[in-house]
Amino acid sequence: MIFSIRIYGDPILRGKIPELNSFEEVLPYVVDMIETMYDDDGIGLSANQVGLKMRFFTIGMNAFEDGRGDSIFINPEIVEMSEELWDYEEGCLSVPGIREYVTRPLTIKVKYLDDRGQKHEEILTDLAARVFQHEIDHLNGIFFVDRISPLKRTLNKKKLRALAEKYTKK
Ligand code: NI
Repeated sequence: MIFSIRIYGDPILRGKIPELNSFEEVLPYVVDMIETMYDDDGIGLSANQVGLKMRFFTIGMNAFEDGRGDSIFINPEIVEMSEELWDYEEGCLSVPGIREYVTRPLTIKVKYLDDRGQKHEEILTDLAARVFQHEIDHLNGIFFVDRISPLKRTLNKKKLRALAEKYTKK
């Protein structure tokens, strides 16, 4: 099943999504989440983007260089960030029509549970680190457009307002 994607302006995308007590709560949604992510050509998708108030997200295999498959990150945390930063153009399924460069740490140390309930602590870098940060932002109520320069934000103001208005008119 393909979920419908919640769009900028939807309150589920603002505010912090609480931690899950059990990894098993996500299992009924994992396959549909991954399917939805690919249906919309995304490389990551957080649960609140499809209306689930659950602290987890998916990242597609193309974000990783170590050959792992599509992955689920439950109760994710970032415990360290590199001082080294890089810029990369980001988009978001919940913010259609806008792409902007965002500056983020290149490398991060993360903790999470996988879909078997196993604890992991590992270093992610490049695209994997970027997507992880973009998705954990969603679970904290933050959009990539909150992290662009004030000038760029001003330039995108109309588009963002239009997205939010579309939501309230629904
Ligand atoms: Ni996004």
